[in-house]
Amino acid sequence: MASPWKAARVRSATATIFAEMSALAVATNSVNLGQGFPDTDGPEFMLDEAMAAIASGINQYPPGKGIAPLRKAIADHCERRYGLNYDPDTEVLVTTGATEALAAAILAFVDPGDEVIALEPFYDSYAASIELAGGVRVGVGLFGPDFRLDLDEFGAAFSPRTKVLLINSPHNPTGVVLSYDELDEIARLAVANDVLVICDEVYEHLIFDGAKHLPLAAFPGMRNRTVRISSAGKTFSATGWKIGWALCTPELISEVTAVKQFLTYVSGAPFQPAVARALNEGDAWVETQRADLERKRDRLAEGLSDLGLTPSVPRGTYFMTTDVTPLGYADGVEFCRDLPTRCGVVAIPHQVFYDRVDAGRPYVRWAFCKQDHVLDEGIARLSKLRG
Ligand SMILES: Cc1ncc(COP(=O)(O)O)c(C=O)c1O
Repeated sequence: MASPWKAARVRSATATIFAEMSALAVATNSVNLGQGFPDTDGPEFMLDEAMAAIASGINQYPPGKGIAPLRKAIADHCERRYGLNYDPDTEVLVTTGATEALAAAILAFVDPGDEVIALEPFYDSYAASIELAGGVRVGVGLFGPDFRLDLDEFGAAFSPRTKVLLINSPHNPTGVVLSYDELDEIARLAVANDVLVICDEVYEHLIFDGAKHLPLAAFPGMRNRTVRISSAGKTFSATGWKIGWALCTPELISEVTAVKQFLTYVSGAPFQPAVARALNEGDAWVETQRADLERKRDRLAEGLSDLGLTPSVPRGTYFMTTDVTPLGYADGVEFCRDLPTRCGVVAIPHQVFYDRVDAGRPYVRWAFCKQDHVLDEGIARLSKLRG
């Protein structure tokens, strides 16, 4: 029950569905295909670097904007991968995960009543951060079964109150990767309407079928109006380290930094040299991991198809979506609440990511960033649903 002292500003902030489902997974000894975290570690040299950092006394507050070698590694990585140049001293901020970069950017640029256009379904922290800022969410739907962006709807979402576009590609939970043409049109609209863009690219390296990640900041007119956000969590299988970053102009980065310093002040000291090393030396590891994930994606798609479901096979992220109607459920929340006791598997209902709940009602998200034997066990357990 909500406390009578709860602030109206955070009225919809409750325990996330991920916490609820992960707790249910532990309580029922279920295979957790719900929350998006891998069940294997990142590169060994990165783990060793963090342990060495702790042992050598790197345990006190690091610089607020992040240690210089990490800021340089982030800028170098961006240049090497995408040809985008950022000054490590003035245009890079290290944050406590992408989540803090998103929150700090939204709080820095959104005033009460400002509209923020975001792709709906939204990653859950977007809704909460926009609400904290007093902003108004304006969703542009990626609706099943194909979850394609409707550019006419996108264009029609702008109003004189639009201040920020919040774009996420590869997109959680749908796995959609926006195409060159879609990004080009988003960029055109951003420039024409003179809005700021916050671009969440945490899945930039989890991309399949030969697709290429295209940072929105690289499109014409976008470099100086885009806050480019990513993190080490997904790329290096270290979601618990919470090292993220934001890249943009010195003017924009100093506004985001001003907010960040009062959210967490600084971010995990011993993880920073380790992530710097991973960014500098981890390209081969990332590619192996990516290829492995693509194979896992196909393994899960096959298992879900065998159950009579039609998975939306993603081109990015580590999430796959199915409509669970063929299993006798019209409502994904009901399905996900029943699933652990019916067969010992946990998944996440799509509708929690939507304002327009009905659009997400029959869909469920499955994470495939798990060891093969875990995926196989999950699929074997799900086969009980066939009755
Ligand atoms: C789209 C998206 N953005 C941001 C995050 C959070 O990233 P971090 O763990 O680095 O805060 C996630 C995590 O699931 C995500 O899916």
